[in-house]
Amino acid sequence: MYGLVNQMVQDYVTARHGEAVWARVAIAAQLDGIPFVLSAPYPDSLTYTLVGATCAETGLPSSDVLIGIGHFFTGYASSRGYEDLMRAAGGSFPLFLDNLDRLHSQLGNAFPELRPPSFHVSHVTEDTLRLHYYSTREGLAPMVIGLMQSLGDRFNLQIHVELLAPRGDGQDHDEFAIRFAPRQA
Ligand code: HEM
Repeated sequence: MYGLVNQMVQDYVTARHGEAVWARVAIAAQLDGIPFVLSAPYPDSLTYTLVGATCAETGLPSSDVLIGIGHFFTGYASSRGYEDLMRAAGGSFPLFLDNLDRLHSQLGNAFPELRPPSFHVSHVTEDTLRLHYYSTREGLAPMVIGLMQSLGDRFNLQIHVELLAPRGDGQDHDEFAIRFAPRQA
């Protein structure tokens, strides 16, 4: 994945678990003190190694680490210059989800080798919807759960996410059932 994502993992691990944990993760991943280039593609295996080493260092299951990374994602993207792009994706949670493919495709110029996820929204009501998540990669469904939490922060919503139907056994994508309601003041 692009350096932008690996840098996000670094910033997340440092903010959540401290410099010392990140230093050991960096050694485990043999980064040799070389900083990530945000606009350069890296093998996916490196990102998975960073997550695995974070689990080993903290004792947390990978689902917790991936949820945490997802929760960190949109605030990070905003702070790295992508706030305008996210604002253009829509002012409500359902609209924003509907525009996620467009958002990622607009990154195509800056990241020509991008292999973005794809999302599809169905069964929309006033306070529920289903989110269909397609990816060329394995095991990132917990990150999507964290991403939904970060969108809850963004839109000031209480979000409840359930993985209704995981990918596998003839199903080519993960399907989430999501409930959302305004947060109480
Ligand atoms: C402007 C904000 C965003 C930027 C700049 C961005 C950028 C990226 C980049 C660079 C990747 C790595 C893909 C690759 O290297 O091939 C990625 C992956 C991903 N993005 Fe975004 N993204 C943004 C917002 C979001 C949001 C709001 C979601 C919410 C669901 C999302 C979901 C994902 C997921 C799940 C992946 C993992 C790749 C996969 O599933 O195969 N992104 N994004």
